Amino acid sequence: MGKSDLPLNGQTALVTGASSGIGRRFAAILAAVGAKVVVAARRTDRLAALVAEIEGEGGMAAAVELDVADPDSIAAAIDAAERAFGRITILINNAGVADVADATDIGLAAIDHMTTVNLRGPFLLAREVARRLIADGAPGRIVNVSSIVAYTYDGHVPVAYYAMTKAAIVRMTEVLAVEWAKYFINVNAIAPGFVVTEMNQEVVEEKGVALASRRARGRLTQPANLDSTLLYLVSPDSGYVTGSCIRLDDGQMPR
Ligand SMILES: NC(=O)c1ccc[n+]([C@@H]2O[C@H](COP(=O)([O-])OP(=O)(O)OC[C@H]3O[C@@H](n4cnc5c(N)ncnc54)[C@H](OP(=O)(O)O)[C@@H]3O)[C@@H](O)[C@H]2O)c1
Repeated sequence: MGKSDLPLNGQTALVTGASSGIGRRFAAILAAVGAKVVVAARRTDRLAALVAEIEGEGGMAAAVELDVADPDSIAAAIDAAERAFGRITILINNAGVADVADATDIGLAAIDHMTTVNLRGPFLLAREVARRLIADGAPGRIVNVSSIVAYTYDGHVPVAYYAMTKAAIVRMTEVLAVEWAKYFINVNAIAPGFVVTEMNQEVVEEKGVALASRRARGRLTQPANLDSTLLYLVSPDSGYVTGSCIRLDDGQMPR
């Protein structure tokens, strides 16, 4: 059984990309504040370990296999999530991939993969969760994970196409927030700066100290530094906040 009297008791959260990095942390923190958490990704061995960890802390979690590039997998994962813990009231659209290449060099396969995983997948997930909430007349929260490169780009690490998909996530957040306002489904986004995860593990291993010293505050961001922003966006107290994207980069990038 989960702990009672926590802020997200009674909520069921689906977290995509929960096998690693930011998604893994987000799943753990949502469970710690009382949500029943469905953790989703392709690497199910990692999801099983996370479920065990959350349960060991007294939380409630279940794992579902999900490939966000596959529409059938999305529908199946949402069905499985509902079988485990009932209607999904919180969706964390976190799964994403980044391909580092100059715009002149990047191949079609990488372009299509980023479009499918970073943009089409989150849209299909959001609308499937929303359809079910609307059918039940229930409110909900959707938090999309964008990136600071949606807004500002220095080209040192060439991720032009990735930046385009993350900018589209900001617009998706805005338009879905408007369409679903009348259903009390709030749609917001977080745009992190550089966060230490497997996505950029090689860069951190190679240049960790130098990377930190280039930042105004001389430090790197860890997934846990995003906790309070996530919790704000899913809090029962932030019900009037929708269609917003919070930039969370510790002052790493210009404005
Ligand atoms: N790290 C940063 O500096 C940073 C900055 C801004 C934004 N972000 C964004 O934050 C999100 C999380 O990234 P991260 O840094 O935590 O990276 P990460 O450690 O590489 O994790 C990426 C997650 O996405 C999942 N994923 C990838 N392709 C998938 C697919 N086809 N279907 C389902 N899941 C898939 C992976 O799970 P499986 O491989 O097990 O499927 C993994 O759990 C991404 O959207 C990323 O763009 C990251």
